[in-house]
Amino acid sequence: MTRRAVVIGVGHYLPDRIVPNAEFEKTLDTTDEWIKSRSGIERRHFAAPGQTTSDLATEAANAALKMAGLSGNDVDAIVLATSTADLTFPSAATMVQAKISNTKGYAFDIQAVCAGFAYALTNANALIVSGQADRVLVIGAETFSRIMDWTDRSTCVLFGDGAGALLLEAQTGEGTIDDRGILSTDLNSDGSHRDLLYVDGGVSTQSTGVLKMQGQEIFKHAVEKLAQTAHTALDKVGLGADDVDWVVPHQANIRIIKSTARKLGVGMDRVIVTVQDHGNTSAASIPLALSVGVANGQIKRGDLLVTEAIGGGLAWGAVVLRW
Ligand code: ACO
Repeated sequence: MTRRAVVIGVGHYLPDRIVPNAEFEKTLDTTDEWIKSRSGIERRHFAAPGQTTSDLATEAANAALKMAGLSGNDVDAIVLATSTADLTFPSAATMVQAKISNTKGYAFDIQAVCAGFAYALTNANALIVSGQADRVLVIGAETFSRIMDWTDRSTCVLFGDGAGALLLEAQTGEGTIDDRGILSTDLNSDGSHRDLLYVDGGVSTQSTGVLKMQGQEIFKHAVEKLAQTAHTALDKVGLGADDVDWVVPHQANIRIIKSTARKLGVGMDRVIVTVQDHGNTSAASIPLALSVGVANGQIKRGDLLVTEAIGGGLAWGAVVLRW
């Protein structure tokens, strides 16, 4: 018998303020048409003043707990993927822990930018498989609107705020690919590409900074590396593209999503797409897409999913799981 990390709850939260592309036309030399055709994005949500990443994360966590019929103290660990934590420290995860009234567990953040949720799922899976936790809340939450250069049309139109959460529980499987839960993971990074996507602030500069990106370079790396990591994760458990019910990609750009699906050999009818409504929410984009996919009836119990993501670092990875 094999210990598996099985999803027993999922939920998401989006801030109330919806910003359509047209709003950027008032302040930037851009158009709704350009943004839509180059990225697939039509609108995004921005957090209200004073609304923090841990606030968004807490809403998503509560939604996942509610689906499972559990409360904050029923979890052993909280793993929160974010690059926009409320403060330099303590972790946003410990803030969520307090907000959901968890007094018995442990909480920590994971920072792998847009690949953060693949890293968080992999770490949560390891905690469960090794017996260090029986229930783990895995959250992706971001407020990228706080690190935008609002004069840079090539970046500020692409990102949004939001949060998504999964609740994982240790369950016993047969050790086969028919088990529910996380079946395989694949993580990678290459720090030599740090200049392609970064924030020019942080502790060493005593300022928060703004996001800088070489979009075309990131695009090229993304298509190649996302298909490669998804194939590697599937290979590890002897599965191929034909076995996949749903690809749940990081939602950065519809052109990246389509090119990666083509490389993987999966039709777009088997890809969850939310980028039009959320923009790029970095570490929150995969759990948001999972939650939306479940809510609208696309993802069903027993479906085989592969998630893949890439972000600053570069860092990238994939997770194969049976829902
Ligand atoms: N409105 C109008 N024109 C624009 C805008 C805009 N918002 N932004 C850029 N342009 C202009 C550029 O200035 C350029 O003009 P020029 O030809 O006069 O110099 C022209 O549009 C073409 O620019 P490109 O950068 O070549 O446009 P491209 O087709 O590559 O699309 C984009 C840009 C959307 C950024 C694309 O490269 C992309 O999506 N890259 C990947 C980015 C990404 O996914 N990042 C996130 C991954 S990691 C993470 O999620 C954190």
